[in-house]
Amino acid sequence: MNCINLVPLATLTGFFNLYRMKKITLLFLLGAFTWIMACEDKEVKKDNTTVNKEDESCVSPLKDPNDVKPMALMMRTMANYCDSMRLELNAGKTVDSVRYPLMPFWSAEPTDSSVLEELYFNNAKSFAASWRTLMRSTENQKENYTAVIGQCVNCHMSYCSGPLRRIKKLTLDYKE
Ligand code: HEC
Repeated sequence: MNCINLVPLATLTGFFNLYRMKKITLLFLLGAFTWIMACEDKEVKKDNTTVNKEDESCVSPLKDPNDVKPMALMMRTMANYCDSMRLELNAGKTVDSVRYPLMPFWSAEPTDSSVLEELYFNNAKSFAASWRTLMRSTENQKENYTAVIGQCVNCHMSYCSGPLRRIKKLTLDYKE
């Protein structure tokens, strides 16, 4: 049933009755109001579902799912690296740049070229610095890894919030 179309109808009938029976009118208006609230609830839920579908990528809907740009591919690789680094660090092991090289994603072709601006490159620079700090030493790797994930989150807050849920799962203390 399409509730949107029923709202004006119910309200109109309500006003019409205003001249006849005040009590019934009040009930009508109350009903119409409740209906509107119910519809608004539904709209919100619909929106949330749309957001969930975009979970992994930034541009939605993807024009062509087979045409994934190099920057997006590097992002996926980095997310996979972090998945396994997280497990290793939590198991008390150390990570290194031989198995987890820094991905130069900032010079790869993006899906949406409007991201290529100063703030983006500055974010990328801080990210690369954090990654190098993590790989430079086997000391404090848990803290340094957490700083790397902080850089992922930081850039994604400005440029592409879709993967943020995925990135949250990369933190050391994330519980499934
Ligand atoms: C300097 C900004 C920046 C940083 C730092 C960054 N990202 Fe991204 N990320 C982006 C942009 C922009 C895109 C969209 C790329 C595209 O579609 O071409 C993206 C896309 C993604 C995607 C979706 C790829 C797809 O399948 O479409 C994932 C997952 C992701 N990033 C994870 C990460 C993780 C994990 C990190 C940290 C290790 C990270 N990102 C660091 C800007 C950043």
